[in-house]
Amino acid sequence: MKFHYLSLFLLVIILELSTNVYGLMPKRSLKPLLPPPEALLSIGHYHSTCPDAEGIISQKVFAWVKKDPTLAPSIIRLHFHDCAVRGCDGSILLNHVGSERTAFASKTLRGFQLIDEIKAELERRCPRTVSCADILTAATRDATILAGGPFWEVPFGRKDGKISIAKEANLVPQGHENITGLIGFFQERGLDMLDLVTLSGSHTIGRSTCYSVMNRIYNFNGTGKPDPSLNIYYLKMLRKRCKKDLDLVHLDVITPRTFDTTYYTNLKRKAGLLSTDQLLFSDKRTSPFVDLFATQPFVFTSQFAVSMVKLGNVQVLTRPNEGEIRVNCNYVNRV
Ligand code: HEM
Ligand SMILES: *[C@@H]1O[C@H](CO)[C@@H](O)[C@H](O)[C@H]1NC(C)=O
Ligand SMILES: *[C@@H]1O[C@H](CO)[C@@H](O)[C@H](O)[C@H]1NC(C)=O
Repeated sequence: MKFHYLSLFLLVIILELSTNVYGLMPKRSLKPLLPPPEALLSIGHYHSTCPDAEGIISQKVFAWVKKDPTLAPSIIRLHFHDCAVRGCDGSILLNHVGSERTAFASKTLRGFQLIDEIKAELERRCPRTVSCADILTAATRDATILAGGPFWEVPFGRKDGKISIAKEANLVPQGHENITGLIGFFQERGLDMLDLVTLSGSHTIGRSTCYSVMNRIYNFNGTGKPDPSLNIYYLKMLRKRCKKDLDLVHLDVITPRTFDTTYYTNLKRKAGLLSTDQLLFSDKRTSPFVDLFATQPFVFTSQFAVSMVKLGNVQVLTRPNEGEIRVNCNYVNRV
């Protein structure tokens, strides 16, 4: 009984205090707060307007990747290059003089025809409804699954941008940046260090041209010597493989076609291909995440799904007066 009264007494005091606190709080600003653009995306965006959209996309991705498995990593990279410049707005797909696609940094991007074929089919089924940016985002999720990676729900409703500038595409990291630069680049897009290390894990599949690593293996930093952070056996192998700039090497030397955490264990053995990969392990700010993923594969796969959704939400165009639904992913609509 005593306890009962005591708690009642305390409750009254707490209520008294809290109402007082609220009374002292400043009035909320009357300026209307707009939700962030990605809040307007939704998983059900095409449920009534194009219910088969996701199915059509995944069928096409499946058929093309079955014929050419190297397309899976290429689509994932294409999505990254789209989102990294002017957000995920399909601007990388525009094919005109001086567009992002024509930039030096875009030279080895692939997968454009697959996106075009998906778009053509979607225009037959639900004309002027599904954006190119959404197609590329969903195709990336499907390509990840086909490579053995995790599933995630893709929120839809991105619109396609009308602006694409080659100079901007050349700002996408190309493998010779320092970690401060990479962290800054990601941060400007709302992605943190965990996202940086997680999304770099895409390099568990796919290939690079030797061009991106020539200086690491032959003439690091103008010294005439290789990068000292390269494992010597790995270096020997790379020297054998890389004679010309356009020769290709796997990004993950051990399991190049499997979506796994070998990318991270490679870094611990000084066998990361790009200098930017290896630096994730040697820099104090990012190495804890590398250690985590190298030892906890399930943490990596679940975080990959989370970070990919974040990547797909970067600077999306979702408001009524922004962007358009392109009819052909290669061109801005004619008015
Ligand atoms: C962190 C900064 C990053 C750098 C510096 C970087 C750099 C590169 C480079 C230099 C290549 C090889 C290009 C070539 O020479 O052909 C490459 C390939 C690739 N990148 Fe990245 N990348 C980064 C982040 C990402 C992200 C965030 C993703 C995906 C979410 C990604 C996915 C890929 C994939 C899948 C490939 C293989 C492409 C193929 O096989 O066609 N990269 N990257
Ligand atoms: C790292 O790169 C940035 C540009 O991305 C540059 O401003 C900075 O000087 C570089 N830092 C070092 C230590 O090289
Ligand atoms: C280039 O080499 C010098 C001397 O070894 C080193 O101090 C510097 O950090 C190197 N630069 C880069 C970008 O690695």
